Amino acid sequence: MTDHQGFLSGKSVLITGASSGIGAAAAKVFAREGAAVVLTARRGERLEALCEEIRGSGGDAAFVVGDMRVEDDARRAVECAVERHGRLDAAFNNAGIGWDQEPMHLMKDDAYDAIMDTNVRGVWNVMRHELAAMVESGTGGSVVNNSSVAGMQAIPAAAPYVASKHAVIGLTKAAAAEYAPHGIRVNTVAPGTTRSEIIAGWFERNPHIEPELHRLTPQARTAEPAEIAEAAAWLCSDRASFVTGAVLPVDGGFTMV
Ligand SMILES: NC(=O)c1ccc[n+]([C@@H]2O[C@H](COP(=O)([O-])OP(=O)(O)OC[C@H]3O[C@@H](n4cnc5c(N)ncnc54)[C@H](OP(=O)(O)O)[C@@H]3O)[C@@H](O)[C@H]2O)c1
Repeated sequence: MTDHQGFLSGKSVLITGASSGIGAAAAKVFAREGAAVVLTARRGERLEALCEEIRGSGGDAAFVVGDMRVEDDARRAVECAVERHGRLDAAFNNAGIGWDQEPMHLMKDDAYDAIMDTNVRGVWNVMRHELAAMVESGTGGSVVNNSSVAGMQAIPAAAPYVASKHAVIGLTKAAAAEYAPHGIRVNTVAPGTTRSEIIAGWFERNPHIEPELHRLTPQARTAEPAEIAEAAAWLCSDRASFVTGAVLPVDGGFTMV
């Protein structure tokens, strides 16, 4: 483990979807705060570069190439963290996909399966292995799932995405209730619009959307990935010791109005 002092010092942490956007930012924030991170996603070359960068700053990082839709890949990612550090203390289940907005009746049927497979099945696959590892170690733990403001309310023309992110909150609450007796906390971050690859392409194809979202957001801007990562890091840490089953909006006030 790293000698780095920080509020995640000595923690063994798994981050999914760490090859870009919020997950890549989380890898850096968690490592900066002293966590030994295991990163997973499908694009191995990106994970490798990120691990090198983290190690170059004195952090502890390893990666496992994997697809969270595949249960065996999810299991391998958790096993990697347990093998390296003897246990898994925390996880940020962030891997997810979006979709171009379309009215429900015009959306291709495969959009539903693709989104549910990654955003819900992916969290299900990896969280079950994380919980098993945490129960086995007997030292408790903290899981943070990445939902969205679309998990708290409808956003237009994105029905499968909205359903998938509501389901992430449902899985989170169910796990939080079930695993509290084991000292395991399970929470959700609900980001508002955040500057990442998912969003960059969408803004490029639909230039009217960003100003419209700013109009609906009291802080009137798009979040940077590190701002979401900071909230996830806090929830993963012992500083959030009495927080479980919570949905933390990190959205510049979008869901409050
Ligand atoms: N950006 C926003 O405005 C926003 C708002 C609310 C919520 N979110 C949520 O934040 C999370 C991260 O998204 P982002 O905005 O940072 O977008 P992003 O840059 O596209 O990152 C998505 C990450 O998920 C990984 N991923 C996708 N499918 C995967 C799979 N089947 N198995 C493993 N990894 C997979 C991608 O890596 P590979 O392609 O290398 O596998 C990538 O690392 C998502 O759950 C998204 O729904 C984003």
